[in-house]
Amino acid sequence: MEFPVKTGAPGRQKTACAVVPIFEGKALTGPAREIDVVSGGLLKKLIRSGDASAEVGRCLMVPQLGGSGPSRALLVGCGKAGEFSAKRYKQALTAAAQTLKRAGIAEATSYLPAAAPQALGPYYIARLAVETTSGVFYQFDELKSRAAAKPKLAKLAIGLTDKAAVSEARRGITHGKAIAAGMSLAKDLGNRPPNVCTPSHLAQHARALAKRYKNLRAEVLDERDMKRLKMGALLSVTQGAREPARLIVLHYQGTSPKQAPVALCGKGVTFDTGGISLKPPPKMDEMKFDMCGAAGVLGVMAALGELQPAINVVAVVPACENMPSGEATRPGDIVRTMSGQTVEILNTDAEGRLILCDAMTYALQHKPRYLIDVATLTGACVIAIGNVYTGLFSDHDELAEALLAAGSRSLDPAWRLPVDEEYGDSLKSNFADFANAGSREGGASIAANFLSRFVEGTPWAHLDIAGVAWKANADKGATGRVVPLLTDFLLSL
Ligand code: BES
Ligand code: MN
Ligand code: ZN
Repeated sequence: MEFPVKTGAPGRQKTACAVVPIFEGKALTGPAREIDVVSGGLLKKLIRSGDASAEVGRCLMVPQLGGSGPSRALLVGCGKAGEFSAKRYKQALTAAAQTLKRAGIAEATSYLPAAAPQALGPYYIARLAVETTSGVFYQFDELKSRAAAKPKLAKLAIGLTDKAAVSEARRGITHGKAIAAGMSLAKDLGNRPPNVCTPSHLAQHARALAKRYKNLRAEVLDERDMKRLKMGALLSVTQGAREPARLIVLHYQGTSPKQAPVALCGKGVTFDTGGISLKPPPKMDEMKFDMCGAAGVLGVMAALGELQPAINVVAVVPACENMPSGEATRPGDIVRTMSGQTVEILNTDAEGRLILCDAMTYALQHKPRYLIDVATLTGACVIAIGNVYTGLFSDHDELAEALLAAGSRSLDPAWRLPVDEEYGDSLKSNFADFANAGSREGGASIAANFLSRFVEGTPWAHLDIAGVAWKANADKGATGRVVPLLTDFLLSL
């Protein structure tokens, strides 16, 4: 989709559809007033009659405006002007995009950006418009025998009334497109069934990215390499599976190789049955999304490839299945991690931390300035904070603050939860250095504590996306979340 910038008067714009924000209160303001004038007072009439409403997210398509400007107007309720927050702006963008999609409009100009909260600034105003609209138009139908009709909208102009905002808005559009493309890749990988999206499939995608972008380079390690590297924890998880595991390494080099990279590790369990500690059947299909950390990291790398910022990033993605079989790891087995520490596997369903710890030790060989892991790690995180916030765990306040800020700027928010060493008490083992699972209470922090034992003093943060990586029920599907937060963070360095 194209997103040009338009600064002309809304009433004179030649467009198939002007998207116009309506606020509560008697007087029309901004773009709505101008469109009202060229339509001979039609908008006022529609509001007075109650056909148009300023309730947040309510939309009304006005098909024949008359006059020589826009052919149609899409009135979008935005609530009280004084309460128009970033979140409401996103709600309005979503509602507008859904209506444009349903109406089959091919080209439109949105004046929601012209009315967006000024505190966001033109960069985020434009970026959010692009990300949100692209998100609404995302479709996954590659496995439907009859593909859904292709949505018509090919061009959404970003209407601005302030000419001084144009260059910042253009930067926001460029970044928004790259982030939207990264999210779309992450969603595709997440939505593909587990018999298609295997560890090798993820590896192929990493290779394809490296081919497409000049400063991306991919390395794919197989199980022989993992044995050579003594990745006993990662190997113990894949042990019961027929499907071969992969360790995917993607290097993004945007500046001198002397500069320390940021390391990103993404959990890539392409299907999590729980292993011998088998999960119960209800909703087990959703465990195909257990690779959304990996998908998010690959999405971020794609966005970096597009934007070419002057930083270095190394992505390390451990990818495997967690299956039960005669060869699978048993509860009670003890394995030696690449770090040399031994782990008693009390629950084979706590597999994410086992593949991540070896990936993190591997990532540390690149001497990163920050180590950030992303994982659908614990059901406990979902119980704690639901599906609104990503759980953020870190022993480094500065890094934690920077990630929280990137999340709130991007409307891809994270909430900090504790990782204090006391959470390690329940990982005590009589037989190994520690266990992979402890008590249920505080399970998300216990998992984070487990990972903290593998960071060797490197500033580290752990993002638990178990609650936000996908939606369940009627709109079941991957969200691409964490791509906006992480890309924003990396661009801010
Ligand atoms: N992939 C799951 C976590 C998960 C569960 C994410 C449900 C989203 C929804 C993870 O591998 C897991 O099974 N974790 C266990 C850990 C426990 C055994 C210590 C959990 O959360 O129950
Ligand atoms: Mn599990
Ligand atoms: Zn898992």
